[in-house]
Amino acid sequence: MTREQGELVDDRTGFSEASRLNPGVAHNARVWNYWLGGKDHYPADREVGERVFGMFPNIVHVARADRAFLGRVVSHLAGQAGVRQFLDVGTGLPTVDNTHEVAQRLAPESRIVYVDNDPLVLVHARALLTSTPEGATDYIDADARDTAKILREAARTLELDRPVAVMLLGILNFILDTDEALAIVRGLMAAVPSGSYLVLTHPTLELGGEANVEAMRFWNEHATPPITARSGEEIARFFDGLDILDPGLVSCSLWRPDLPEIGAVPTRISQYGALARKP
Ligand SMILES: C[S@@+](CC[C@H](N)C(=O)[O-])C[C@H]1O[C@@H](n2cnc3c(N)ncnc32)[C@H](O)[C@@H]1O
Repeated sequence: MTREQGELVDDRTGFSEASRLNPGVAHNARVWNYWLGGKDHYPADREVGERVFGMFPNIVHVARADRAFLGRVVSHLAGQAGVRQFLDVGTGLPTVDNTHEVAQRLAPESRIVYVDNDPLVLVHARALLTSTPEGATDYIDADARDTAKILREAARTLELDRPVAVMLLGILNFILDTDEALAIVRGLMAAVPSGSYLVLTHPTLELGGEANVEAMRFWNEHATPPITARSGEEIARFFDGLDILDPGLVSCSLWRPDLPEIGAVPTRISQYGALARKP
């Protein structure tokens, strides 16, 4: 931390402590909750949420399809794949079917560690910490860039020499520098053994997201943290060295869809998603 014009500023993120807590500035976790139909947001979040929705109405489908993807992937991992450990970075505010609820429904002994840097997510973390007696949940207040802290604190709950599903859903888009985003993925995946998984979603201007350009520009002028989209080719680099499972890197609504979901959201949305296994 350094002091700039009387305010404490985090040297890594560039955010001041005051801006971390400011209800007057729209924050991603709260606006995402608004688009998901949740209740944890302030007027500034609703205003930006509505403006973005006006420019890019599919944003609501993106948020909902992303959560539905989370449910399907975690069900697959906890079910067929037999994974019992989950590290969910960029968790978001608690909503229906959080990672531990989906995993522990199928495998009550599952252990889940959540990570987010939003102060309101921290306030609501209690709702994420309701584990089955056989399993465990934990919450780490950390920036995704601080992989050393994440891994150190995750080791309280997870055995890092056994397979872990590393989940980065809708978060690398807030790491504007691609090399820095790659370093986060590589740092986390290097710390977990063969048989671990990477789950990732990321917005793109491909797949019909062109109308999102104006909405993202508006977001970057009025809300925090700033966001970027990436191409499929750029996103595929996050999976270098891993085996991407079928159906590959696709619109996350089309990743092994449940039949009733088709028709509930557009068949293709501008958010890529994929699941990969560390060989
Ligand atoms: C779009 S929401 C996604 C939430 C959830 N993963 C999902 O897919 O529904 C992004 C989340 O990432 C968090 N986030 C953004 N930048 C972050 C960072 N640098 N470190 C940790 N969390 C971050 C935000 O606070 C927010 O809760």
